[in-house]
Amino acid sequence: MMVGGTVRVPGDKSITHRVLLLSVLSPGVSHIGGVLTSLDARSTARVLRQLGGGISPLRARSLVRVRGRKRLRRPEAVLNCGNSGTTTRLLLGLLAGHPFTATLTGDASLRKRPMRRVTGPLSQMGARFIEPAGDGLPLTVRGGPLRPLRYAMPVSSAQIKSALLLAGVAGEVEVEVLEPHGRSRDHTERLLRAFGYEVAERDGWIAFRPTGRLEAFDMQVPGDPSSAAFLAGAAVIAEGGELRVASVCVNPTRTGFLSVLRRMGAEVTVEDPVTHLGEPVADLRVRPAQLRGTEVAAAEIPGLIDEIPLLAVLASRAEGTTVFRQVGELRVKESDRLGLLAENLRAVGAEAEVQGDDLFVGGGSATPNGNVRTAGDHRLAMAFAVLGTVPGARVKVDNMACAAVSFPGFPQALRGIARRSA
Ligand code: S3P
Repeated sequence: MMVGGTVRVPGDKSITHRVLLLSVLSPGVSHIGGVLTSLDARSTARVLRQLGGGISPLRARSLVRVRGRKRLRRPEAVLNCGNSGTTTRLLLGLLAGHPFTATLTGDASLRKRPMRRVTGPLSQMGARFIEPAGDGLPLTVRGGPLRPLRYAMPVSSAQIKSALLLAGVAGEVEVEVLEPHGRSRDHTERLLRAFGYEVAERDGWIAFRPTGRLEAFDMQVPGDPSSAAFLAGAAVIAEGGELRVASVCVNPTRTGFLSVLRRMGAEVTVEDPVTHLGEPVADLRVRPAQLRGTEVAAAEIPGLIDEIPLLAVLASRAEGTTVFRQVGELRVKESDRLGLLAENLRAVGAEAEVQGDDLFVGGGSATPNGNVRTAGDHRLAMAFAVLGTVPGARVKVDNMACAAVSFPGFPQALRGIARRSA
């Protein structure tokens, strides 16, 4: 296909979750523009309403109004977090500092995902958990007064880090965390600094002190780079043209995929950056290019964790082999994303193999043809839809509706960037 035009992508998912969580604990009325209205964002809004947050309906292109309160209220029913790991884990951090009992559950995918990675350190802070499912949902949290925590995290994960920092906010205690391999996204740290909290970095440790105060705020959520990546990826493998994706968050902890794309030979430029409430925002300009394989090092993975499906399908169009080192974390995403990624690449005729925790993808120019099994994983669905734009491709994705977990309107957006050749 040929590409052209300027597009916008929906608001950033990670920032939307965090802004909603913090706004309900900010007394007064906050106004938030550009909020993501996807299924995951709706899960956060729904459970926060059960906890007393006055959140107006999430509607595309409308301001969301949030009436916050000093403390959350005990929920009357189970909190269903849907498909959203971020909702569950970050909320557990806030609930750990509240003196009531709440039960959390989710859909079949979320119920299988590990929760001890947050309930373990939150227990060290003094919260109590009943975990009848073992390391998963449903689980019950009983929060209360918390102790300070100094904790070396077993994996680099923004969800674990944010849960612990938010426990520090709710419990008004110091929290220090260390990430083992590379920095994960730092939106929580940036937002907390904007409220006057001290979040310092010392010898790799992130040190939070409860010096700030949450108060109502107005904010515009920038476009989601993880959503932009799919459209940019389609432009990279297009036959011609140029695509501009406007107003995308280009926080350096999120743009690892741009560095990898450039290394693979893609022409991607970041234009007109501005900073809004601590987050850099810019336009991306992308042109098609012949790609070459590359090695993606373990330290790069946290900065592009959600873009691996997209980068892997692009790697299948490159010259040579691409290897993604130490991507075992993909096994505990919305699906066994690592196993399914390799399986689906092979199903459409590409070469892919998992060796230990590394993913190898062979490049080539054969026309993709085959059936893709997503297990309801939005990022797998979108990545293979991008591969389906290769001329002559016949890629049948079993569930495109799941794209709405993070990118409502994705199929239309992908069709919308196609242009007729002159
Ligand atoms: C997220 C962190 C990442 C990412 C997820 C969103 C966040 O998960 O995959 O889509 O908003 O904090 P992990 O922290 O489990 O790596």
